[in-house]
Amino acid sequence: MKALLLAGGKGTRLRPLTDKLPKPMVPIMGKPLIERVIAKLKEAGVTEVVLSTCYKSHYIENYLDNGSKLGIKIDYVSEDMPLGTGGAIKNSEKFFDDTFIVLNSDIVDDISYRDLVQYHKKKGAAVSIAMTKVKDPSQYGVIEFDENNYINAFKEKPKEGETNSKWINAGVYVFEPDVFKEIPKNKIVSVERDVYPLLLEKNYKMAAYEYNDYWIDVGTLKKYIQAHVDILHSRCNKFKKANNLSDIKNIIFKNNNVKINPHAKIIGPVFIGNNSIIGAGAQIGPYAVIGDNCHINQMSNISRSILWDRVKINENANITNSVIGSNCTIDKYCNLLNTAYVSNNYDNNLLAI
Ligand code: GDD
Ligand code: MG
Repeated sequence: MKALLLAGGKGTRLRPLTDKLPKPMVPIMGKPLIERVIAKLKEAGVTEVVLSTCYKSHYIENYLDNGSKLGIKIDYVSEDMPLGTGGAIKNSEKFFDDTFIVLNSDIVDDISYRDLVQYHKKKGAAVSIAMTKVKDPSQYGVIEFDENNYINAFKEKPKEGETNSKWINAGVYVFEPDVFKEIPKNKIVSVERDVYPLLLEKNYKMAAYEYNDYWIDVGTLKKYIQAHVDILHSRCNKFKKANNLSDIKNIIFKNNNVKINPHAKIIGPVFIGNNSIIGAGAQIGPYAVIGDNCHINQMSNISRSILWDRVKINENANITNSVIGSNCTIDKYCNLLNTAYVSNNYDNNLLAI
């Protein structure tokens, strides 16, 4: 089976993290999100992936190349100008002549692609969409469906009162190649706003797959941090069960060669990457993710924050609910709260609610 990854968006809501990197390359627990998505596809039996790229596409191509490192075949279709999600799908037409999977590439989830494909076949649909339930659907594509789980309306980012459904598009689809003929070529087209409503108008069968487990779109800084908190939590739960622990306060996940000064205080759950050093009197956690080769100096506090690789935090700094990009140095006595910081680019209060 083949899959198409929509990976060309600008990642505006993740700025400044995406000023230098395209969104699919943003690390989740130290590894680019797109690499995790591809590994999950491989596990589900996918052997070939097509990446539809645009914004800063060379970063993705340089990193993943032809996929041989990941044991999967990767092809690229790159847009000079963003064609929208529907235009991007049309642009990849030559690669697909059988049922295929389409994914947004900013999702962390446990959806079983195998089950979804099976469901799609059982329903005899032209397109199947995985859905998840949320409290506030206004920032998503909302799906209305009948008692047999066939979709009868798709409303992208609906205004208040436009729908009663709380089921949203999870950004995971199965497509039949028939659908290509309904998408115009070389035009900016949105699959959500243009293609899905058109398919419904033309009476194509669109099936809705109900999914009730973990799902998050990491496209905003707040959710990017939340995803890490959730991952640490779920790892902890597994670890707790396996080790018969009742508390997570002491759980530290460590990679190789981590040096923690005996006078540092670690409040789990915490993840610390290869070769990182934690100085005396520093307080790490709860919910800190520290990348490789980081140095946290004396008396600094890091909580509910994600540090990428090679970050240096000087003495007496406080980092809370923030993300710090690779190679940054934070001055001593600096307080960062609800902030994303990348090299010289400093924006305050990006996460303010
Ligand atoms: N190639 C290409 N070209 N890819 C694009 C383009 C484009 O012009 N525009 C967006 N993408 C990619 C993004 O990189 C991302 O992986 C995916 O398409 C979705 O774009 P987002 O910008 O993340 O959309 P969203 O989060 O506002 O909404 C989408 O996802 C929701 C679930 O998280 C929609 O599909 C909603 O219906 C859905 O509920
Ligand atoms: Mg998104």
